[in-house]
Amino acid sequence: RAFLHRLWKGTVSSKMLNPRLQKAMKDYLAANKHGLHPKGLRSCAVVMSAGAILNSSLGEEIDSHDAVLRFNAAPTRGYERDVGNKTTVRIINSQILTNPNHHFIDSSLYKDVILVAWDPAPYSANLDLWYKKPDYNLFTPYVQHRQRNPDQPFYILHPKFVWQLWDIIQENTKEKIQPNPPSSGFIGILLMMSLCSEVHVYEYLPSVRQTELCHYHELYYDAACTLGAYHPLLYEKLLVQRLNTGAQGDLHRKGKVVLPGLRAVHC
Ligand code: C5P
Repeated sequence: RAFLHRLWKGTVSSKMLNPRLQKAMKDYLAANKHGLHPKGLRSCAVVMSAGAILNSSLGEEIDSHDAVLRFNAAPTRGYERDVGNKTTVRIINSQILTNPNHHFIDSSLYKDVILVAWDPAPYSANLDLWYKKPDYNLFTPYVQHRQRNPDQPFYILHPKFVWQLWDIIQENTKEKIQPNPPSSGFIGILLMMSLCSEVHVYEYLPSVRQTELCHYHELYYDAACTLGAYHPLLYEKLLVQRLNTGAQGDLHRKGKVVLPGLRAVHC
């Protein structure tokens, strides 16, 4: 009776239970039979494709995260020591879906992972306009891939998401930035910040290994890959540098930045 009375007043807690029930509850909490992550993903890794990640030996650290995000055609096979081999999410731009060199439909890179595709749409983010005239027509290969792999999670980013990120970069920059979408790297960082409690980003802000080698998996040199030309990449990086909560030593040696998940940010 007393219990019911307190319950109705809305001040219920497990402390009101009798010792047997309190113990049962404590045991179930400890066992976590169904593997619940009460706060979703705790810690996530975003692995940039920069050449500077070569010889980093970061693979083991990267794979220790709950989820790992990679970009476009960046491989893990043959580079495990430096980039790890776990891939949870792969973000791909519309050129990956449409350029025959990437063998999007057949390549194993795009199987057994969560895929997120994006394409530079008009700033108005009008879906009818975009669907009629995408930058590269990702919709046809998207449907084809979905039909062949109906159980694989495969999303297309709403263009509004991409342009809202552009707005945030411009709002936080004194100079006028390029009127082009942010890089896949910035999109991936923000996607993981919305899903994870903590995001560890590797070789976005360059380490001591900084190099003009564009990608770790390709013999192609261009400083634009690290500093940006089409994308407002330099400004994205300056913003991320300001948000970094990680140690300076980790930035220097590992090229690692640590960012809080959005749920941890109180505005
Ligand atoms: O070249 P790609 O877009 O596939 O690389 C994924 C992301 O990694 C880029 O969008 C960019 O944000 C980041 N990157 C970088 N420095 C490099 C190469 C890539 O910051 N040298």
